[in-house]
Amino acid sequence: MTQFDQEPARTSIRIMERRTRSQWPSENAKAAEEVYKNIQAFKGLPASSITEVMTQFTQDLGVTCAYCHVGSEMDKDDKVTKQTARRMIEMTNGINSREFGGRPE
Ligand code: HEC
Repeated sequence: MTQFDQEPARTSIRIMERRTRSQWPSENAKAAEEVYKNIQAFKGLPASSITEVMTQFTQDLGVTCAYCHVGSEMDKDDKVTKQTARRMIEMTNGINSREFGGRPE
């Protein structure tokens, strides 16, 4: 019997070294605009958060990626929904920097 009930008891233990985000030598430490081709509103955000934000969009709006993107060419701006979404992000960024001293609220 293990803590996960169905799983067989463990015979080995893996010990992993702890690292902070900045210690990972991955793409994730880079800014979004260094990794992606057409970042305007999310400049300065870690590249790793783009996928999270995009997934959040689909969940919040109840749509798929195709609502704003054409096929797999996510950098293209040919859908008006993507342009509108970008304007709304920029508006929010503007309000946060004017009204809240740059803190996201
Ligand atoms: C509501 C509209 C919307 C939805 C839905 C959406 N996106 Fe985006 N996506 C955007 C906008 C706007 C940008 C550009 C952000 C900027 O200018 O910084 C973008 C940018 C991106 C980029 C960066 C492309 C590049 O090279 O510049 C990727 C990758 C991406 N989206 C993936 C996804 C994926 C995967 C999904 C589905 C899980 C998704 N998006 C759903 C609006 C959306």
